[in-house]
Amino acid sequence: MLKIKLQIAEKIYEGVKGINPDAELSVQDIAAMLEYPPDTSMGDLAFPCFKLSKTLRRSPVQIAATIAEGLCGGAVGHAEAVNGYLNIKISNEYLGENVLPEILDKKENYGAPRIGEGKTVVLDYSSPNVAKPFHIGHLGTTVIGHALKKLHEFAGYKCVGINYLGDWGTQFGKLIVAYKLWGDKKQIEEGGIDKLVELYVRINNTIKGDEENGIPAREDLADQAREEFHKMEIGDEENIALWKWFVEISLEEYQKTYKQLGIEFDSYKGESFYTDKMPAQVEKLREMNLMKIDDGASIVDLEEYGMPPCLILKRDGSTLYPTRDIAAAVYRKEHYGFDKAIYVTSTQQILHFKQWFKVVELMGYDWYDQLVHIPYGTVSLNGAKLATRTGNVVLLKDLFAQAIEKVKGIMAEKNPDLAGNEEVAEAVGVGAIVFYYLTNNRIKDINFNLEDALSFDGNTGPYVQYTYARTCSVLEKATHCGGKIVISCDEEATLLKTLAQYEERVRTAIKDYEPSVIARYILDVAVAFNKFYHECSILNAEDNDVRGTRILLTEATRYVLGSAFSLICLKKTERI
Ligand code: ARG
Repeated sequence: MLKIKLQIAEKIYEGVKGINPDAELSVQDIAAMLEYPPDTSMGDLAFPCFKLSKTLRRSPVQIAATIAEGLCGGAVGHAEAVNGYLNIKISNEYLGENVLPEILDKKENYGAPRIGEGKTVVLDYSSPNVAKPFHIGHLGTTVIGHALKKLHEFAGYKCVGINYLGDWGTQFGKLIVAYKLWGDKKQIEEGGIDKLVELYVRINNTIKGDEENGIPAREDLADQAREEFHKMEIGDEENIALWKWFVEISLEEYQKTYKQLGIEFDSYKGESFYTDKMPAQVEKLREMNLMKIDDGASIVDLEEYGMPPCLILKRDGSTLYPTRDIAAAVYRKEHYGFDKAIYVTSTQQILHFKQWFKVVELMGYDWYDQLVHIPYGTVSLNGAKLATRTGNVVLLKDLFAQAIEKVKGIMAEKNPDLAGNEEVAEAVGVGAIVFYYLTNNRIKDINFNLEDALSFDGNTGPYVQYTYARTCSVLEKATHCGGKIVISCDEEATLLKTLAQYEERVRTAIKDYEPSVIARYILDVAVAFNKFYHECSILNAEDNDVRGTRILLTEATRYVLGSAFSLICLKKTERI
């Protein structure tokens, strides 16, 4: 629609100049003022004339009437002045002759905004903490992060997806203590990450004790854990070997989940990688006199900026989460030369990012304003909040497995031909979760309801994947019949106008870092296509041109849906 808007804007521009040749207003300005009316029966686009009233020294009603006169032709099928608005209906011929061929020509590249060429974006997302559960709270960072990567890639940016694994820290001390107390090599080899998490949960509970039931806390074990971690830090061979093993087991498991989502990372450099990169930054902070000692710890005072201090070193000299993030950002800037660095985490970390971004600025790094934190709301399952430290969490893989099982049940009932098709069940089950999640604004807290997510009737993943499969099955049966393109009914025109909006939606999604814009766009396309499918016969249309056009429209829909699916981790299902 951007091109159409520009074309119409040129004509409006002429009208404006006709009224006042000195009016200072560009074609671009006018294009940006074009709106989508809430009710499409009024028109496809509307141009409000109120703002022009002053420059043109006329009433909006007069301006609209004057401009409307010269507007028809080209993309404009019909123009009408109503109460200071210009209501514009786009010409069906124009849509058929311009939009449809362009989609068929560009295929899945249609709608790609060329705004990122020559620029690099690094995205830090998913980043689970090794040996702690990978639970549904991580769904947000994983799929929002990946969708943002795909969106930027689509716009031509060079992207680097980084999984900043939480692979260093005192939790490994705890895990080593637990392993030495209760661990069993063979069991862990067989049971994988679940066994590690079990050990982790057990050691935490043991340290905490259970006052109510008279079980005392075990601070001595916490001390031991610190000791084991300290040994790791000074390179103790046995502990380092254990640590590597724990990381390996966890990664194997994460990768299964990433594969289900179709996600690959470009880098797995986790927290441990930055250990030797922190001292230089700490030194710089010291030299610049930015640090002060507070109760033995080293901090950067941020009171002036209305924030609590940023902690750099603990009392015992060990580094902290912000210290590592600062060192990692410096490394990434040097290594990738990013134009933008995006971090996706829950809203709980907003302050953390604000603080260390500020410290980077104070350190004189002029790229501080290229750091972007993208927060998202919490996830709960039918009302139950998710904790991490106790055993009471819903693992992401369990949630996926459950969804896949349910889909298998539905498939057995609805489409026995496909029953037992693991690939389809997985694509639909996982897709349902992803889509349900991504139709919400990212900042919203979400309560998961599996039944709703898996419904084939609502605004769900299965519904849109089913629509995609429908385009495939129509095209499978279609034989190309040549002829010319004729747009012969409203359903066709509406579908085409919806497809034409793709690039604008992509731009909005990038500008607002909001994949939900794409999820909702997919629904718009699905609704428009299904309406077209039900109201217009495609393969049985009598007129050769009409049939040919409808087949091409179906093909165009498949391209746009397929492209949009890949932007939000949704697999293309040719059959359901
Ligand atoms: N591992 C962290 C967590 O689970 C998230 C890391 C986010 N990225 C970062 N650069 N701090 O809370």
